[in-house]
This record gives sequence, structure tokens and C-alpha cells, in this order.
Amino acid sequence: MKEEEKGRRDFMGYALGACTAVGGLGALYAAKRTWDPLPSVKAAGFTTVDLSTAKENVLNVEKWRGKPIFVLKKSVDMKADARDVIVGSDRFHVSIGLCTHLGCIPAYEAEQHKFLCACHGGEFDASGRQIFGPPPSPLEIPPFKVDGTTLVLGEEGPEYKKMLADGLTV
Ligand code: FES
Repeated sequence: MKEEEKGRRDFMGYALGACTAVGGLGALYAAKRTWDPLPSVKAAGFTTVDLSTAKENVLNVEKWRGKPIFVLKKSVDMKADARDVIVGSDRFHVSIGLCTHLGCIPAYEAEQHKFLCACHGGEFDASGRQIFGPPPSPLEIPPFKVDGTTLVLGEEGPEYKKMLADGLTV
């Protein structure tokens, strides 16, 4: 083989190799973009709630991952509970607002400090504990984190992890 021809073949080989490598990287990049969740999906996993404006004994219903979330600032005359979320000197009840019997959304009766489920008469106290009727367990506590006066739903902070370890979230 002539020296000139060999050089040309080597060059073609390198060029083809380089093209393949670039193409491979491009394919990997495209695949990663496909696998990674979209920024909007990532953001949808969390809901932040400003607790600084909450009013005592007024139920605030937020939405997290398509579920209603009850956030209730307790007044001083409402019983303290190990399920309370403490923010500064305030206590909050936070739960997924779905009855643990068959999933209806209970209503909050502010005067009685109770959640009443219209479907089959289930009742929960202001800490979300079942006190009457067919609900088999308390209102579930969603993963949360307290960040200053902001409640971050969907993130497991130390307060939630402790409740989880103590078996208080369900
Ligand atoms: S769904 Fe609430 S009591 Fe049955």
C-alpha cells in the first residue's frame, strides 16, 4: 500500500470514529433529557404554604399532588397533641384532607373544633384523630418540612421524620 493511500485511510478511520463518538454523546444527552423529569414536574412535587398569615381556628385547604391538605392554626384553648406542627410559639394541625374510612373530604366545624365527614358520619378532632364513626385511623399527615414560617409539603423535614418514627403520621 502506498504511504499516501494509507494516510488517507487512517484519516477516514479517525473521522468516522469521531463522528460516531459525537453521535453517541448526542444520543446520551437526548436520552438523559428524556429521562429527567421536566422542571415543572419537579416543582409540582412540592407545595409551599406561608403560615405567617394563618388565622386561629380557620381551616386553610391547600392542594398537594392533587390532594386536599388541611392546615389549621390551633387556638390556645385547643388541646395540644404530639401530631401538632410547631412553628415558633404557634401550633398547627396539618393533614391530608381525606377521610380514612372511604376517602370523602371532611368539613371543619370551627365551633366544635371537629372535622365532620358527611359520607358516613365519621368525626375527627382538631388534631385529626378519629373520635366517632367508621374511620379506622387519624387523618394522615403528609411529608412536610418547616422552613421558618413556611411549610413545605412533599419534603421530609426532621419534625416529620420524628412523627413517622413515632407512628403518628397515620
Ligand atoms: S368516608 Fe368518611 S365516614 Fe365514611
